[in-house]
Amino acid sequence: MKPIPPDIENTILELSVLYSEYAEGSIPLSLRALVEKGEYDYQAIPEPSLKLFNKYYFLRNALKSLLSIRAAIPDGLKVGAVSDIGCGSGAASIALLGSRELKLTSNGKVRLIDQSSDQIKDALKNYERISFSNPLLVLNGYVSDLSGENTLEPMEPETKELRIASYSFCEMVASGTSPQKLRSLLGGHFLLIDYFTVISNVFSSIIEESDHATASRQVYSLSDKLTSLIGQPSLKVNCLYAR
Ligand SMILES: C[S@@+](CC[C@H](N)C(=O)[O-])C[C@H]1O[C@@H](n2cnc3c(N)ncnc32)[C@H](O)[C@@H]1O
Repeated sequence: MKPIPPDIENTILELSVLYSEYAEGSIPLSLRALVEKGEYDYQAIPEPSLKLFNKYYFLRNALKSLLSIRAAIPDGLKVGAVSDIGCGSGAASIALLGSRELKLTSNGKVRLIDQSSDQIKDALKNYERISFSNPLLVLNGYVSDLSGENTLEPMEPETKELRIASYSFCEMVASGTSPQKLRSLLGGHFLLIDYFTVISNVFSSIIEESDHATASRQVYSLSDKLTSLIGQPSLKVNCLYAR
């Protein structure tokens, strides 16, 4: 097990302060089990539960995103656009925009996409609250079911774009999204953070040699402070980067 790099731990501590005024209580285990089986319907869950869900996963997925980009793109990447696919509360892109690896050009664009309008609202609110990322970014949220007819065009054809999918492919796979459809969501630079089974599934079914893809799998031990925030003493991180 590896320890969390100190600068990443500091970013999470900073995020936890910015994020602190949030729903009280803990997520019901039954809800967590549904999420992990990919059977959670964000549209059907009443607001307090959605808040609890997002609270439970926000810092954890933010931390996984920071560890993933460090493993996958250690030399860093500067882009003009970021798309957060199945953004939920925005944890992944918010954290990455505060990372040392990801830089956005001034007036760079961020596109949040989720099938749930409540999640888009929550992500936009979090972006407002956690402005340590990039005060000058151009932010847009889109409600869109990416398993369906909708396609994901590049934001601007000539602009370098990073697409991030953090724990959204697992739900698309669980709802029967075809490999061709998942493949159509890749583009530019693509960082997938997800369960190991999803990463290996994607690797074997939708990645082509020309994608120059690498996968990484790590287990980290957490300090006492992080354990109390994340709710567990260690963290498994699986990611795939294609470009
Ligand atoms: C487990 S949450 C992860 C949220 C966030 N990316 C994170 O890392 O914390 C999965 C998100 O993917 C969204 N999602 C699932 N299937 C989707 C689809 N077909 N199209 C768009 N969004 C989808 C859900 O609404 C949910 O907000």
